[in-house]
Order: sequence, then structure tokens, then C-alpha cells
Amino acid sequence: MSDVLREQKRYYAERAPEYDDWWYRRGRYELEPEALARWRADVAETEAALEGFAPGGSVLELAAGTGIWTRRLVGLADRVVAVDANAETLALNTSDAELVRADVFEWEPAERFDLVFFSFWLSHVPEERFDEFWSLVRAALVPRGRVFLVDSGAGDTAHTGTDQADGEETRSLAGGRTFRIVKRRWRHDELAERVRPLGFELALRDSANGHFLYGAGSVVGEADDARPETPAPPAPGGAEGRSRDG
Ligand SMILES: C[S@@+](CC[C@H](N)C(=O)[O-])C[C@H]1O[C@@H](n2cnc3c(N)ncnc32)[C@H](O)[C@@H]1O
Repeated sequence: MSDVLREQKRYYAERAPEYDDWWYRRGRYELEPEALARWRADVAETEAALEGFAPGGSVLELAAGTGIWTRRLVGLADRVVAVDANAETLALNTSDAELVRADVFEWEPAERFDLVFFSFWLSHVPEERFDEFWSLVRAALVPRGRVFLVDSGAGDTAHTGTDQADGEETRSLAGGRTFRIVKRRWRHDELAERVRPLGFELALRDSANGHFLYGAGSVVGEADDARPETPAPPAPGGAEGRSRDG
């Protein structure tokens, strides 16, 4: 495992107690009212998209973290297996999911799932591990299985992310410690194109205010009738005041 992947894992272990502040816009992630309203609108849009997608059945969540999305998934699916590399994040996740501590780059699923879900994870997968990651997703799915992903929007850059270069950036914790991590913000069309040769057809879009990229799909040729409708083009709208840090 590369040094940056080790450091990234450590960063999220150390960030665990303050991680949710980013999502709920607390403390140093607080936003002005208008920016907060735009953030919340994007959160609501993305949550509604997941609900409309109707997960159901068995779900594998990769890099589940403190459980922001796990808690939604357990309410929508029959069963959720949530994998994360860090005990510190899993300790804050929900006991309503089956929690598995494992490194996504080393773990092999012992069973197959109806849905593989990952949020704010793909942007932390380096190019040299990208194909391998999607092989894991494929191996974890039943033949007609589906994928749903959420991540940072393409124009989104981290509040605390500095020295951005070559798909990496430096992040700081509230106490000032810094870590080098992988962060690639995908454009929705680029990502859909990138995964097609790997066997996935994804319908992706940006949330209206540009904070998030989200969407769903399935393995090409395996679930034609289960594919989502191609989403409408993203609504125009500014993204000033976005905040960032997934
Ligand atoms: C940006 S957070 C996303 C957490 C969660 N999915 C969410 O949306 O709130 C990235 C997560 O990946 C986990 N992680 C980092 N490296 C990992 C690895 N190699 N294998 C599995 N999980 C890893 C971290 O512990 C952290 O919980």
C-alpha cells in the first residue's frame, strides 16, 4: 500500500470525532445562511434520489465511515453490510448495520449483494487502484445488482484542502495536524465514460448547487431493465460558499 493511502486511512481515523461537522455544517464548517440553504438543498436532493432509487434487498456499503449514509440505507434496505478500514469511524456508525473493519483495497466479499453503495469514497481512490476497485464492486454484486454513488461535485474543492496537485491534497484537522490524501473530483460525464469499459453503465448528475455528484447504474448487459432513467441535465446555479471536505 502506498504512503498516501496509509496516510489517508490515518487521516480519517483521526478525523472521525469531527467528521460529521462537515456534513452538518458545524464548527469550522459552518456556512452563511444562503450558502447553508444551498448546501441543504443539495443534501435533500441527493437523499431524495437515493430514496427514489429504492435500495431494498441486501446492500454493501464501502468506506461507510461514521454512518451518515448507513443510517439512511438501513431504513431503506433489508440488510446493510458496512465496510470501513478504521475502528474509529465504525465505532460511530450504527449497530443496525453489520459492521466490517477491512481495507477496501485488500478485502474480498464472501457473498454477493443487490446493491453496492459508496459515498465520498471514489474521489479518494487513486488512478492506479481505480480499475481494481470497480472489479471489487462487480465481484460483490449479484448478476442483476446495482450501484449507487455519491461524491464531491467536480467544482468542489476542500475547505481545508491545500496544495492540490496530481489528484492529491493536504487536509488539516481542527487541531492543526495535516495529512496528504488522494482527492479526485470527477465530472459526471467523465466518470460515466471512465467506468463503461469496466462494465458499468452509470447515469450520473451534479446536484443543483454543484456540491455533489450522484447517480446509479448497473453492470452493462446484466440489468438493462433495471437501469435508471438518464437524469435531466443539472440545473444551473451558483456554488459559491460551497463547502467541501468529503
Ligand atoms: C470521506 S470518508 C466517507 C465516509 C462515508 N462514506 C460518508 O459519506 O460519510 C472516507 C472513509 O473511507 C475510509 N477509508 C479510508 N481508507 C480506506 C480503505 N483503504 N479501505 C476502507 N475504508 C477506508 C475512512 O475511514 C472514511 O470513513
